[in-house]
Amino acid sequence: MPPIVLQLLQGAGLTVFILAVLYFSKKLGVLKRVRGALVIATVLLAILLVSRLVHFPGQERVFTFDLGILVLIGVYIVLQVLDELIWEHVLKPKHISVPRLLFDVFNFVVLVGVGLALLKTLFDVNLTGFLVTSTVLSAILGLSLQDLLTSLMAGIALQIESPFQVRDWIRVGDKEGEVTQMNWRSITLRSRDNNNVIIPNSIIAKQDISNFSRPQKLQLVHVTVGVSYATPPGLVKGVISRAIADADGVAPTPAVQVFVKRFAESAVEYDLRFWIEDFERLNAISDSVQTRVWYALDRAGMAIPFPQRDVHMRTISEEREEREKARGREDVFRVLRQVTTFQSLSDSQIQILTGTARFERYATGEILVRQGEEGRSLFVIRSGTVSVERAGEAGSSQRMATLRAGDFFGEMSLLTGEPRSATVVSMSEVEVVVVDKSGVAAVLSQDQKLVKSLSDTLERRSRQLARTALEQQRLADVAAAEQVPLFLRIQRFFGIEN
Ligand code: CMP
Repeated sequence: MPPIVLQLLQGAGLTVFILAVLYFSKKLGVLKRVRGALVIATVLLAILLVSRLVHFPGQERVFTFDLGILVLIGVYIVLQVLDELIWEHVLKPKHISVPRLLFDVFNFVVLVGVGLALLKTLFDVNLTGFLVTSTVLSAILGLSLQDLLTSLMAGIALQIESPFQVRDWIRVGDKEGEVTQMNWRSITLRSRDNNNVIIPNSIIAKQDISNFSRPQKLQLVHVTVGVSYATPPGLVKGVISRAIADADGVAPTPAVQVFVKRFAESAVEYDLRFWIEDFERLNAISDSVQTRVWYALDRAGMAIPFPQRDVHMRTISEEREEREKARGREDVFRVLRQVTTFQSLSDSQIQILTGTARFERYATGEILVRQGEEGRSLFVIRSGTVSVERAGEAGSSQRMATLRAGDFFGEMSLLTGEPRSATVVSMSEVEVVVVDKSGVAAVLSQDQKLVKSLSDTLERRSRQLARTALEQQRLADVAAAEQVPLFLRIQRFFGIEN
């Protein structure tokens, strides 16, 4: 066969081979991880063939060098494929856990061995003799590899002992974060600030490790709050426990606990203990808990005191405090004056309501009024938005209305004495004026128009509630019917039940 035909055939064969490699490496999972290596190997093979067919200066050296690299890459590909096969088809199905690192170390040793053997056979380099005789080089290599080897050994120990795994939230020394990667030299943590913190295994081996994801995710969190000496601890504990029990991120069980921690300089300090499951959200959860505590203490009129050294400033400003209280009453008056339903009332009647009213503030997601509870007050919204929700028998809940600044709620229980007809939840930070029953009663007896306009609202809302209750009942009946198998329903319908 003429040499030109032979060359063409070899070229065509090579092209087919390259295309086959690319095609199968895409299809076969096993080859996916060595795709890059396969492509390089094919290119090297091509160079090898060309260096056999075409004559050019330095051809022999190119051939030997190319062959060396090709063998090395070939060994690498074989090792990776074996790894994949052993890992996926032998170890994983049998749930045998072998540290990944051992595979990497084994591969590394084999590759170095093959590399040395190639240097000796192809290039005639006597590396062993060179390494043994060169004491200086050995010392330099030994010293520079010391840290690397410690890390490697520590890495193996970590993988075998397995005090943490990828995705665990851990603290090593003073570094904290989620483990995103573990390899033979180091681990990578993703910190709360979204930084990558890379810690060498050799350092981890010498540090205390706390794992917040194992053996279970539930973690106890402590928050300290100082409350005025004027308030009895029994009351404080009740208010705080209720406030944080359903705060965002706080686990429902074990229950929240509040302990008196110490009698500090200016406040009684309380230790709030609650459990969380999402340790990476620690800051957000602590924030939600402390926000809740502030609002609850504010509503209960319990002060979080300033340090004692500020007492001096407070005494001289008593007059100002009195002025502020008066301003507060004016604010309440203004809010009540703007309520459309109260339009028929005179200023002095609004003053009567103001006398029994107070401001209360709520964080987002707090319950202002709970369905089924007894209620003796009327709420007028000063700012923010609330949602009125009615829970049905089957536990489903339906939004009845969204109320905004100037709207009021809570009139139903107040006027009829029945339990609260719905739950009212804050959809944003909300400020309300809470008017007590005594104030409303005093004004109602004087003003028939108010009775009329309040009962109009009450009637309109009651009708809507009744419609919703009916709808909820219907849905519950449908759900209950769906629980009964079709077979039984047909039997019942035709009266052929056993
Ligand atoms: P009360 O029953 O005391 O407590 C829940 C309150 O939700 C209720 O008074 C009303 O003020 C309010 N409410 C109930 N139903 C509606 C509705 N359909 N639209 C607006 N507000 C309502």
